[in-house]
Amino acid sequence: MTDDKTKPPAEASSIWGGRFAAGPDVVVEAINASIDFDKRMYTQDIAASMAHARMLAAQEIISAADADTIVSGLATIRGEIGSGDFQFSRALEDIHMNVESRLSALIGDVAGRLHTARSRNDQVATDFRLWVRDALDHLDREMKDLQAVLLRQADTHAGSVMPGFTHLQPAQPVTLGHHLMAYVEMIGRDRGRAADCRVRLNESPLGSAALAGTSFPIDREATATALGFDAPMVNSMDAVSDRDFALEFLAFASILAVHLSRLAEEYVIWCSHQFAYAKLGDAFSTGSSIMPQKRNPDAAELVRGKAGRVIGALNSLLIVLKGMPMTYGKDMQEDKEPCFDVADTLQLCLTAMAGMLGDTTFDVERMAEDAGKGFSTATDLADWLVRVLGLPFRRAHHVTGAIVKLAEDKGCGLEDLTLEDMQAVEVGITDEIFAVLGAENSVASRVSLGGTAPASVRHAVAAARKRFLDEG
Ligand code: ARG
Repeated sequence: MTDDKTKPPAEASSIWGGRFAAGPDVVVEAINASIDFDKRMYTQDIAASMAHARMLAAQEIISAADADTIVSGLATIRGEIGSGDFQFSRALEDIHMNVESRLSALIGDVAGRLHTARSRNDQVATDFRLWVRDALDHLDREMKDLQAVLLRQADTHAGSVMPGFTHLQPAQPVTLGHHLMAYVEMIGRDRGRAADCRVRLNESPLGSAALAGTSFPIDREATATALGFDAPMVNSMDAVSDRDFALEFLAFASILAVHLSRLAEEYVIWCSHQFAYAKLGDAFSTGSSIMPQKRNPDAAELVRGKAGRVIGALNSLLIVLKGMPMTYGKDMQEDKEPCFDVADTLQLCLTAMAGMLGDTTFDVERMAEDAGKGFSTATDLADWLVRVLGLPFRRAHHVTGAIVKLAEDKGCGLEDLTLEDMQAVEVGITDEIFAVLGAENSVASRVSLGGTAPASVRHAVAAARKRFLDEG
């Protein structure tokens, strides 16, 4: 693109145009501009500029009157952008220069004083930290809402027996409540990771200027406090160049997305015709354009699928940052889109999961029937032989194997065998054994800490409401 027609005039980028005879080539403008996406940070950008202007006045670096003019101009711009009346310009590259340019149109030369003792490098690092902090806070609320729905269903189904699986093979009976509570714990740790990320993120880069700090007598504590940061970042080069807070955000997000994908996958399985444990309400089911009988859990499949883009975002930013020399490099402009996309994606996934769960009816009879199949209480039998008859576990395992074989040959469940059948294998067995056979008995007996007994699940639900929902 050497054709002169492709080159806009130097004034187009007047903020740094002073040194340049000609404006950038069209393709440079296209690759450089981030305004199409970073306009999402306008509230953060304006808040940071207001804090900076007030601090400059408090430090007598600019006059109080100028600071007032700047702050009220910025408030006007915030209103314009909020109501969609703002003309964004690609030639002005990003949100920072778009706002500053509009400010000078509104208040004239005074606008030029705002960028004293500041650079776009500390500005963008500040805005982005504020944006990710807001995203973490939003997602925390969504995660909490999902936990609330999980807890409601877990409470309802504290005593609903279902098969528990390992290798997706029926292993031991559990309660649906216990199964759902596993996800309450997972999301609880996700919230913990988000909170950890927020703590490390919450320091202010503002005042680091381009990379080396500034000769102006600024007050970095004041701007940090005004923006809700815990403290100013200690090293100006670190402050403008690291994006580890964004990586931590994406890492937390990836683990959350993986958890949600597992829950989504279980939904797909439970809603399948073969399992038929769960039935999604009409609002969350989709039909097929060709097969009228279909009722598809599309939203669950999409939650499962969207984990791919979230994990991809983490990878993409890790690769952007790998090997970058100190300090700021334009590569770092690639940090925002993955985070924006991930925040939107997860907010959608969390809302969809909560909606689906709330709208699901479980077929309790069918699950209970399944729970009793496949000699799922064989471990209970073996445990009884150890507990009551004092057999070594290995011997009990062997005896149980023989009894399972017997039931298999007779084509019945363990609880359908007679006492005589069982005594033929192990003479010491008494009719007390029947109390542990059968799925209901099995789950009721698992009262160990963290176990599936309905009473334990009800306790776990009550405790989780306190821990996660700040209830009573
Ligand atoms: N739009 C840029 C970004 O997102 C802002 C910082 C630009 N700084 C610079 N020195 N060119 O990274």
